[in-house]
Amino acid sequence: MSEVVKMIIEGKTYEFPVIEGSEGEKAFDITKLRQQTGYITMDPGFGNTGSCTSAITFMDGEKGILRYRGIPVEQLAEHSSFVETAYLLINGRLPNKQELTRTSVQLNDDSLIHEDMQIFYQNFPRRAHPMGILSAMINALRSFYPELEDTDPEGINRTFLRLLSKIRTMAAMSYRISRGHKVVYPRADYSYCANFLNMMFHSPVRPYELDPDIVEALNVFWILHADHEQNCSTAAVRVVGSGRVNLYAAISAGIAALWGPLHGGANQAVIEMLTNIHKSGADIEDVVRRAKDKDDPFRLMGFGHRVYKTYDPRARIMKKMCDTVLPKLKVEDPLLDIARRLEEVALTDPYFIDKNLYPNVDFYSGIVLRAMGIPTEMFTVMFAIGRLPGWISQWKEGADDPNWKISRPRQVYTGNIATDYVPINKR
Ligand code: SDX
Repeated sequence: MSEVVKMIIEGKTYEFPVIEGSEGEKAFDITKLRQQTGYITMDPGFGNTGSCTSAITFMDGEKGILRYRGIPVEQLAEHSSFVETAYLLINGRLPNKQELTRTSVQLNDDSLIHEDMQIFYQNFPRRAHPMGILSAMINALRSFYPELEDTDPEGINRTFLRLLSKIRTMAAMSYRISRGHKVVYPRADYSYCANFLNMMFHSPVRPYELDPDIVEALNVFWILHADHEQNCSTAAVRVVGSGRVNLYAAISAGIAALWGPLHGGANQAVIEMLTNIHKSGADIEDVVRRAKDKDDPFRLMGFGHRVYKTYDPRARIMKKMCDTVLPKLKVEDPLLDIARRLEEVALTDPYFIDKNLYPNVDFYSGIVLRAMGIPTEMFTVMFAIGRLPGWISQWKEGADDPNWKISRPRQVYTGNIATDYVPINKR
């Protein structure tokens, strides 16, 4: 007999079924709670609320485990490529050689954007944040590629690849145009990551020389960001998608959610924090003291996580990359020493220990991006490109569910009780 949980409400006993996942996570199913009891639950921030079952990514926040379709992220970072990991997330298994080759060819075939879209870029203010531009341009893709309405799997899959390919071109284009540089077109003879770097940094006077170490570091960077179960931006993609809007609009909503400094925008906020410390010569102990002070709005950016109550496994790999990639590129970054010192002081401080606050993916990622030559304002765009296969796979999992319900949370009303309108001459 399947497990149930019993609840006594106003003297009456109710039973709710227990759902158990493949890794032993348990939840009680309250889909009939209001209908049976008249009560709803309250969980601001949804820290205790499951919105779906999912077979894509498993996280164990206490043990610091992250697996995509069962494969540990450490193994994918070591052996896989971003394109192969994207295929794994979206299709549920690793591709064979032919499938991977076909996917890479299709990504290159779809890497151009409609020439009319370039005009949009010209009309953004030069200082517009590239995340705002990216969200707008991804949404605009629907107007140029309406095929998403295709119901055949081939049509939908083509749309996934179109998005994965064009996001790179759009991201690099916003950077080039913001600098007043000519747009660099993608090349069919370059890999996914090499193409992005070339579109970003190639110059007519100085052709961009591909450094295999940077290409490899970018693959690992994007693999580490590819999915993270029901985080804020993925939840946004699922919520917006649940209204049956097209995929481009749902992804555009995910990009907007990721932009926030509490979420993907933290990678930019970390570098700004480290730069301020470097420039001001602030004492590290004093910075950590401020982060603990409830009356001080300052927080240690790149620290803490809703799920990880131990070291974020991605931060561990990112930190190692700082020790391997920077020396290979002959880059010395003073911000790395500051980051290391901050971690050392924070992880020996009872405030951080008691609250299980550790470095998350954003704490060291900016140091790696700086070493690759990526400008700070593009950091969260880099996160968005990496997270796109995750957003697509999560949207697909919802769309493939015949019972996909529109997301519509309830509330407990605390406003005025019934009152009458008062005509203006009586107020
Ligand atoms: C990402 O969800 C995901 O999976 C996200 C992500 C992904 O891949 O999609 O992993 C990517 O968004 C990583 C997180 C990036 N954000 C930051 O680095 C911003 C700094 N971190 C914090 O703002 C915070 O830790 C959050 C937003 C990450 C998590 O917030 P929670 O889970 O709501 O936790 P909380 O704010 O309730 O904090 C619990 C306590 C509080 O103290 P008390 O009120 O209990 O006394 O810890 C304190 C907080 O004040 N705290 C911090 C802190 N983070 C939490 N204190 C100082 N510095 C911090 N960074």
